[in-house]
Amino acid sequence: MAATWSITERQRSIGVFDSGIGGLTVVRALMQHLPHENITYFGDTARVPYGSKSAEVVREYAFEDTRFLLQQGVKLIVVACNTVSAVAIDDLKAQFDIPIIGMIEPGSDAAIAATNNSNIGVIGTLATIASESYARALRQRNPSLNVFSKPCPLFVPLAEEGWTAHPVSQMVADEYLSSLRQKNVDTLILGCTHYPILRSVIQEAVGNHVRLIDSGEAAAIRVERLLGEHEMLNVSTDQPNYSFFVSDVPQKFKELGAIFLDRPDLRVTKVHLA
Ligand code: DGL
Repeated sequence: MAATWSITERQRSIGVFDSGIGGLTVVRALMQHLPHENITYFGDTARVPYGSKSAEVVREYAFEDTRFLLQQGVKLIVVACNTVSAVAIDDLKAQFDIPIIGMIEPGSDAAIAATNNSNIGVIGTLATIASESYARALRQRNPSLNVFSKPCPLFVPLAEEGWTAHPVSQMVADEYLSSLRQKNVDTLILGCTHYPILRSVIQEAVGNHVRLIDSGEAAAIRVERLLGEHEMLNVSTDQPNYSFFVSDVPQKFKELGAIFLDRPDLRVTKVHLA
């Protein structure tokens, strides 16, 4: 990390990548917490989903996604994808000399701060839950926690279909989450980019007394702190520049992105990763 950042260096954008469109929930949180920061996003829409692939393949993709963002000159990378955060974050941090923030640590810290009865639920893709990354991070911080994990693979297509409050989504949520309800969890980590989109059906399924932790939101707060501590915040008050890159044709990303971010004017470019 540079010792002292010039005004121009501080203007470099925050890089964010995800397997596809879901990472826009993290972008939304970044825009809210850091309204002056430029953001460069890469969504690997040609290869989504990552959550059902092997850790080896996800790691390979994550390296390519990171290299692409570095080529764009970003100052920090946010790994919005929980699956990548779960299986590849240590490899990325070891390989690349740039601050890299994943979802697992911020989400775990926020859950520990929220729980009163030490019963924490974690939901995510098959790969995220199989990696046990959240459970490990939680228990490392507090070995006496009870952690109950559950993969919810159908939530991703339901969110992409825009069925945020649809009866089918509610049925699926009730089916997936009844076991967590029986475990008396008081805090539930939404360990996947897409799950905040289904927040209302998830809340209904687990009950209003359960605190839902949005890992993307927690990560945005972490990014804000890190940039502040290292004097890397953009000091310009100009309108920020948001650039979006995808690996498949941009049409669907543009349409859904406009809804997710409430912005009709997304500039989305298709790129081919070398
Ligand atoms: N972005 C992924 C995650 O947060 C969900 C979609 C996928 O499986 O690629 O785990």
